[in-house]
Amino acid sequence: MDPSALIPATESLQVPWGWFQFLLVVTLFLHVLAMNVMLGTAFIAFANLLRRSGEPDPLSREISGKIPFTIAFTINFGVAPLLFVQVLYGHFLYTSSVLMANFWILVIFLLMAGYYLAYIFKYNYEPLHGGRVLVIGLATAVMLAVAFFMSSNFTLMQRPEAWTRYFDRPAGLLLNFGDPTFIPRFLHFVTAAVAVGGLSFALLYEFRHRRGNRDAAPLVRSGCYWFSFATIVNFGFGFWFFGSLRPEVFDVSTGSGILAAVLLLAGIVLGALSVISAMQFRVMRALATILPTIFLMILIRDLVRAAYLKPWFSVSELEVVPQYSPFLVFLLFLAGGAFLIGWMLKLAWRTIKAGEVQS
Ligand code: HEM
Repeated sequence: MDPSALIPATESLQVPWGWFQFLLVVTLFLHVLAMNVMLGTAFIAFANLLRRSGEPDPLSREISGKIPFTIAFTINFGVAPLLFVQVLYGHFLYTSSVLMANFWILVIFLLMAGYYLAYIFKYNYEPLHGGRVLVIGLATAVMLAVAFFMSSNFTLMQRPEAWTRYFDRPAGLLLNFGDPTFIPRFLHFVTAAVAVGGLSFALLYEFRHRRGNRDAAPLVRSGCYWFSFATIVNFGFGFWFFGSLRPEVFDVSTGSGILAAVLLLAGIVLGALSVISAMQFRVMRALATILPTIFLMILIRDLVRAAYLKPWFSVSELEVVPQYSPFLVFLLFLAGGAFLIGWMLKLAWRTIKAGEVQS
């Protein structure tokens, strides 16, 4: 069967595709940052508690208070890119979501379970005793499962040639195991989360250290070690992922291939610089180099998608029927929302600094 027969028709856009592409990349960057802090710190709390046979430690106690916030940010910052990716690639994403429908629906229940477990971990940290490892371990496993299904769907959507497998297994249980990029991509994402999780608490304790808290120094170092070690491991997963991609993604005889290659080289250099900074415990420098690295990786991820979908579709083919007023209203609300979130974070930060909130 010709897989192109399985690709639904497209809808027209109200404004040129570049607007949606820009918003997709920016909001996905925020989602990935929040997801990294959430998954990374949960994993580190689990590893710490496991190593200490469940005995409480200051870091996992601190993380227990923050995880519900990071889950909320991850989910809310996930909604925006989901809308934008649907505008541009909905006809691919809807189809791949249907092919793995049972797992895709399961994500909602996994998110609810993750939230519950995070609140149990937060409010029962002390009375849980030996159960701490189990609860945070389950919460981490649930988050990993969500990331796994995300990676499966966002790789399956860009391989219409694999969709015909549906006719042999029409139960909505297809995962993208036939794709050599799937596992290295998933491992690359989750290892990056562990690294950024480490850096996030190094940053928190760095602020405390600067405000005169002497107990904070060992935790700054610990966060830097987590970041450095996970990033070094991730260079390995990154090269595996790179090797599994189709050669046309980095084909330097095309403009997009040159762009992808340049972005990748810049990302590798910045990533290496961030590890060097973290090994010297220079948290702010590591942060200043890892944030652009993550942004570059997100841009490359989009170029990979465009290259994989090239035989089937290009966003520039989408018809534009100009209708600017709804988009302007949307931008207005977006700016208002961003301002409110910024204000809320500022207030929360002030309250935490004043010591009025324990977690
Ligand atoms: C536990 C919670 C979550 C985790 C661990 C997580 C993790 C991930 C990961 C690892 C990716 C990259 C997948 C890949 O490209 O291979 C991703 C992408 C994405 N996530 Fe999440 N996610 C979570 C929740 C959500 C939620 C609740 C939403 C939406 C409401 C969401 C929306 C998205 C979107 C739209 C993308 C990709 C957009 C694109 O392809 O351009 N995520 N997420």
